[in-house]
Amino acid sequence: MKKILIINGPNLNLLGDREKAFYGDTSLERIKTLCVEECVKNNIELEFFQSNHEGELIEKIHSVQNDFSGIIINPAAYTHTSIALLDALRATSKPKIEVHISNIYAREDYRRKSITSEAVNGVICGFGENGYALAIEAMKKLIYSE
Ligand code: DQA
Repeated sequence: MKKILIINGPNLNLLGDREKAFYGDTSLERIKTLCVEECVKNNIELEFFQSNHEGELIEKIHSVQNDFSGIIINPAAYTHTSIALLDALRATSKPKIEVHISNIYAREDYRRKSITSEAVNGVICGFGENGYALAIEAMKKLIYSE
């Protein structure tokens, strides 16, 4: 069975309490449950990870090359700042999808540039928690067409 990694960056552990106008009521636990259900339906094994630390996120991305068939990542604020995350993503040849809960292009100027998206196959943003399910669906096509 193919195994994928879903990584969530800083402050996403606070979903449900944080800036509900942008992120809604959903919690990270709920998003994890939704992702597990979607993966079971699609016959995909899942590891779901969150960290507030850039180095931990980078090390987790390093594990993709040997241990996973693909990665879905919401780099959160590191999307807009981290060349280190971009380089880590570039270092894996596996399929990569970036997800954002909010529409980053309809927000502040500094959110309209995604540094990390330069390394991914595609980006899904603005669909709330459903963006994760859409990403799993897109990932399934990428990993099973390899
Ligand atoms: C986010 C958008 C980022 O700009 C922000 O820093 C986040 C969450 C999203 O999922 O909409 O923390 O990645």
